[in-house]
Amino acid sequence: MSLLLRHHLAASHRAAAGLARARWLSTDTSRNVLISRPEPSVALLTLNRPKALNALNSALFGELNAALEEADEDGDIGAIVLTGSDKAFAAGADIKEMKDKQFADAYKSNFLVNWTRMSSIRKPIIGAVSGYALGGGCELALMCDILLASPTATFGQPEIKLGVIPGAGGTQRLTRIIGKARTMELVLTGRNFTADEAERWGVVSRIVREGSVVDEAVKVASRIAGFGRVSVQAGKEAVNVAFETTLEQGLKYERRLFHSLFATADQKEGMAAFTEKRNAQFKGE
Ligand code: CAA
Repeated sequence: MSLLLRHHLAASHRAAAGLARARWLSTDTSRNVLISRPEPSVALLTLNRPKALNALNSALFGELNAALEEADEDGDIGAIVLTGSDKAFAAGADIKEMKDKQFADAYKSNFLVNWTRMSSIRKPIIGAVSGYALGGGCELALMCDILLASPTATFGQPEIKLGVIPGAGGTQRLTRIIGKARTMELVLTGRNFTADEAERWGVVSRIVREGSVVDEAVKVASRIAGFGRVSVQAGKEAVNVAFETTLEQGLKYERRLFHSLFATADQKEGMAAFTEKRNAQFKGE
C-alpha cells in the first residue's frame, strides 16, 4: 500500500472517530493539493500534478494557500508538512501557463506575489523533498522552515535557460543561506545541485537516508506539535527576524520574546514538569 494511501486511510479513520474535521481531508485526486492528517496534530499537504511534475500554476497556489491558511487557523494542528512526489517536489513555475504572459499583465497583477504567502504562515512548515525541486519548486522549498531531503532530491534555479531569472525569492533566499558566489553560479549557469550539496551548504537540515522522507518529516512535525504552541510560534518568529535585521536588534527582539513567554501557562508547566521530573502537558496558553 502506498504511503499516501496509508496516510489517507489513517486520516479517514481519525475523521470517522471525530478527531479530524471533514474539511481537512481532501483525498480527491483531481485536486492539485492533497490534504491529510497522518497525526491528529499534523497536516500533510501533498502537491499533486504528477503529469506535469508538480509544475506550479495559479490553481495549485490557490489551493495551497487556502490549505496553509486553514492549517494555521486550526487549533488542533501544531505543524505542517509539505511534500510532492518521489519524482518531483515541484519542477518550477508552469512554463506552459506563463509562456505568453506580457509585461503589463505580469506587472499589473503583481504576478507571483501570492506565491510567497506561505512565508506569513505562523506554524512551522517542514518540507520533505524528493526528486526535482527546480525554479519555483526550489523557491517553495526555501520558504519551508525546516527542509528534509531524500538522497534523490535535485535542487536548482534553471530560469536563466528560459530567458528569465528566479522570481519567487531564489536570488534572495539562496544568497542568504549559501552565500553570493554559490548563488551567482547557480543562478547564472542554471546548474542543478544535489542533495549532498544542499546538506553541505545548509539548504536542507539533513538527508533522510533510511526510510521515507515524508514519514520522517511527519515525525519532526509531530514532535514540534507536542510542545507549547506559543513558544513554538515565538521560536519561528525569532529565527526569521535574524534574516531581516541587525544582530543588535535581533538579540533585543529575541530577549523581549523570551521575557514575554514568562506570561504563559506553558512556561510555568514546562519548568514545573522539569523540577517534578515528569513530562510537561502543554496547552498552548
Ligand atoms: N512547467 C510546465 N510543465 C512542466 C514543467 C514546468 N516547469 N516541468 C515539467 N513539465 C512537464 C513536461 O512538459 C512534461 O509534460 P508533457 O508530458 O506534456 O510533455 C512532463 O512535465 C514531464 O516532464 P519531462 O518529460 O521533461 O520529464 P523529464 O524527466 O525528461 O525531465 C525535468 C524532468 C528536468 C524536471 C524537466 O521537465 C524540466 O527541465 N522542467 C522544467 C524545469 C524548469 O525550468 N523550471 C523552472 C521554471 S521557471 C520558474 O520556476 C520561475 C520562478 O522562479 C517562479
